[in-house]
Amino acid sequence: MVERLKGNARKSSLEATRLPVKVLVTGGAGYIGSTTAKALEQAGHTPVILDSLVSGPRVFVKDRIFYEGDIADRALLRRIVEEHPDIYCTIHMAARVVVPESVEKPFEYYRDNVCKSLDLFDELVRLGKPQVVFSSSASLYAMVKDFEVDEGSPLDPTSPYARTKRMMEMVLEDMAAATALRAIILRYFNPIGSDLDIESGVHVPEPSHILGQLVMAAQGLKDSFTITGAEHPTRDGTGIRDYIHVWDLARAHVVAVERFDEVLSSVGALSTVINLGTGDGITVREFVQVFQKVYGKRIPVREAPPRPGDAVGAFANVDKARNVLGWRASLTIEDAIASALAWGRKRKDVLGYE
Ligand SMILES: NC(=O)c1ccc[n+]([C@@H]2O[C@H](COP(=O)([O-])OP(=O)(O)OC[C@H]3O[C@@H](n4cnc5c(N)ncnc54)[C@H](O)[C@@H]3O)[C@@H](O)[C@H]2O)c1
Repeated sequence: MVERLKGNARKSSLEATRLPVKVLVTGGAGYIGSTTAKALEQAGHTPVILDSLVSGPRVFVKDRIFYEGDIADRALLRRIVEEHPDIYCTIHMAARVVVPESVEKPFEYYRDNVCKSLDLFDELVRLGKPQVVFSSSASLYAMVKDFEVDEGSPLDPTSPYARTKRMMEMVLEDMAAATALRAIILRYFNPIGSDLDIESGVHVPEPSHILGQLVMAAQGLKDSFTITGAEHPTRDGTGIRDYIHVWDLARAHVVAVERFDEVLSSVGALSTVINLGTGDGITVREFVQVFQKVYGKRIPVREAPPRPGDAVGAFANVDKARNVLGWRASLTIEDAIASALAWGRKRKDVLGYE
C-alpha cells in the first residue's frame, strides 16, 4: 500500500460532517449497498442511489432517491449533481461481483469495474465531488503463514474480479496524487447476514458462499452442504475466513463518510486503505458447527476436493479500522446466521423467488 504523506494535511471537518449529509451510493440496490443506504438513513443522512439494476433488485431501493442508470453515464452524473448539489461524498459499490463469472467473462468485468469506474471518478472530480469511499476486497491478499493480514501484507489477486479491485485501488491512489480526488478504500472481508429488520439480504438465486449454501440446505433446497477442500494448512484442514455481519459493514461506511477528512488527516495521506473484518478467523468446519447450534438441527455435510482457485483464506488485522476509523465490528457470527435464516424464510415474499 502506498501512502503519500501530505505536509499540509487538511484540518479535520469532523464537526461539519457529522451534520446530516447527502451521499451518492452507486450500487445502492445491491446487497451491501441497500444495507448501507439504510445505515446512512438511520444516522440521519440521505442516500442518493445510482444503480443500473444489472444485479440488484428494484425492491431494495425502497422509497429512496433513485436514479436508474450506469455509473459511466456522465450526463446522468451531471444531472444527479445538478439536482443534488449538496452531495458530500460518493460510496462507490457498483460492480460485477461474481468471481467464477469474472474468469469466464473478463472483458465484462474489466469494462464495468475498471473502465466505468474510471469515468465515474473523472466525472466526480470534474463536478467538484471528489470524496470517494470505495468497496475493495480481502480477496486481494496473498496467503500468509498465520492467515492474519494487515493493510501492508503482500497482495496476490488471483481472479479477474480481484484484479479489477486492485486496479481501482491503484487508480484511486494515482488520481488522489494528481487531482482533487480523495479516497478511503475499504477492503471487506466476508460479509454475511441480513439487515437487522430482515428487509434485505443476499438476493442471488443460488448464493455460492458458505452461509447461503447452509441456509439452502436448512430450507431443503439442497440435500447437503459440501465442504470443498479439507486439506488446507489450517487447524482443521478447511479454509479460513473472517465473516463480518453486513450491518457492521454498513455502519463502517457511515463512519467513513462522517470522518472522511479526519481519517485522511490522521494518516497524512490523500488516500488510504482500511481492512473491514472482525479480526477473528473461523474455519469452514467451525462455521458449520456454529450454524448447526443456531439452527438447532444437524445439516448433512459432505467433503469434496477444492474447486479451482479456492483460496485457503485470511482474517483481518483490524488495528487500523479501530485506530483510524474508530470503528469495530460488534455483532457476532451467531447474529449473522440467525438473520440469514430469517431472511431465507422471508426472501421469497420480498424478491418473488426462492
Ligand atoms: N459481497 C461480498 O462478499 C463482497 C466482498 C468484498 C467486496 N465486495 C464489493 O462490495 C460491493 C457491493 O457488492 P454486493 O455484494 O452488494 O453486490 P451486488 O451485486 O448485490 O451489488 C452491486 C450493485 O451494483 C449494481 N451495478 C453493477 N454494475 C453497475 C453499473 N455499471 N452501473 C450502475 N450500477 C451497477 C448492481 O445492479 C447491484 O445492485 C461491490 O463493489 C463488491 O465488489 C463485496
